[in-house]
Amino acid sequence: QTWKKQILLVTSTPLVFSGTPSVCACRLLNPATILCLPPLCSLPSNGSRAQTNLSSMLAPQADRVMNLSEWEQRWQDNRIGFHQPQVHKMLESHIDKVLNGRSGVRFFFPLCGKAVDMKWLADMGHSVVGVEISEKAIRQFFEENNMTYSEEPVPAISGAKVFKNSEKNISLYQCDMYSFSSAIDGQFGAIWDRGSLVAINPQDREKYAALIISLMAEDCRYLLDTLLYNPELYPGPPFFVPDEQVHSLFGSRCDIETLQSVDAMTDRQREWGLDYLKEAVHLITMKSS
Ligand SMILES: C[S@@+](CC[C@H](N)C(=O)[O-])C[C@H]1O[C@@H](n2cnc3c(N)ncnc32)[C@H](O)[C@@H]1O
Ligand SMILES: *[C@@H]1O[C@H](CO)[C@@H](O)[C@H](O)[C@H]1NC(C)=O
Ligand SMILES: *[C@@H]1O[C@H](CO)[C@@H](O)[C@H](O)[C@H]1NC(C)=O
Ligand SMILES: *[C@@H]1O[C@H](CO)[C@@H](O)[C@H](O)[C@H]1NC(C)=O
Ligand SMILES: *[C@@H]1O[C@H](CO)[C@@H](O)[C@H](O)[C@H]1NC(C)=O
Ligand SMILES: *[C@@H]1O[C@H](CO)[C@@H](O)[C@H](O)[C@H]1NC(C)=O
Repeated sequence: QTWKKQILLVTSTPLVFSGTPSVCACRLLNPATILCLPPLCSLPSNGSRAQTNLSSMLAPQADRVMNLSEWEQRWQDNRIGFHQPQVHKMLESHIDKVLNGRSGVRFFFPLCGKAVDMKWLADMGHSVVGVEISEKAIRQFFEENNMTYSEEPVPAISGAKVFKNSEKNISLYQCDMYSFSSAIDGQFGAIWDRGSLVAINPQDREKYAALIISLMAEDCRYLLDTLLYNPELYPGPPFFVPDEQVHSLFGSRCDIETLQSVDAMTDRQREWGLDYLKEAVHLITMKSS
């Protein structure tokens, strides 16, 4: 990821760098045509990524906690500025990469809210499983989309319920995300994570990543939406999740490709006090073992 952003020098003679090149630009184009000589091109331990201190980047929001009652209260008060009435642009733009030619994919929506993206995918013949703590959000999802639904307890999770529309194959579990597991409803062929990793408490990110990985089938294509801004200026949620952390959370088990990064600043974020906001979307797949 880092070397893509560097300037590539193409030369027929060996290059001599006055310092150590921060990143080795090998493997571009045809790997056979560009040779990377170890003495000139060894990745220095002091490379740009190694120098960024992740914990200091995350420090401003590290201890911020929002509990489940506070989320429920937001739904009760209709303070749901995160909800979008239209299908998310980045999901729409990258859906072909997520599907990768497959039909009838099982999609997982962590912290689903009442995202209309669930109906969009179900209308295309995919099945959808979501997890959401707020029962009000789940009922509103079905009601606003004119779908009937059944409601039953989930024996394996104390106090949890599952709401289903069987015609469209949408099942929404009303429970804490961390009580959900592959034992409840199997693994998934795709995940759409928008307003989820950025919404959970920063101290829970490792636990969350381990859960997500456990829900990924071998061919799973996980589309992750993150937000980049100066965390000194706004307490969140949504929280700041730097690319470096996406790599530290998922990089050992998964391949990560950042598909797109756009300026996502609107008046809403200007009111929060932000001076810039970028929205990035990553495609995460299991490393072949
Ligand atoms: C920022 S909203 C995003 C909703 C949806 N993904 C969207 O993009 O519109 C986060 C949602 O997660 C729910 N939530 C927060 N923590 C949760 C948890 N631990 N388990 C289940 N749901 C949770 C909240 O009620 C809220 O609806
Ligand atoms: C890494 O860089 C810092 C300053 O930027 C320097 O003090 C340190 O000695 C370097 N470490 C190595 C292993 O080169
Ligand atoms: C990173 O930053 C934290 C907090 O600012 C500090 O405690 C820690 O020593 C730093 N680590 C490195 C490797 O510089
Ligand atoms: C959730 O947080 C609010 C606000 O900090 C607090 O008043 C409430 O007691 C907390 N609820 C639980 C169950 O921890
Ligand atoms: C649901 O039905 C109402 C009333 O018939 C209609 O106005 C609305 O557009 C429908 N919503 C959807 C998402 O189809
Ligand atoms: C719903 O999805 C499941 C897989 O999650 C599949 O076995 C079943 O046939 C689907 N049902 C309908 C009605 O599409």
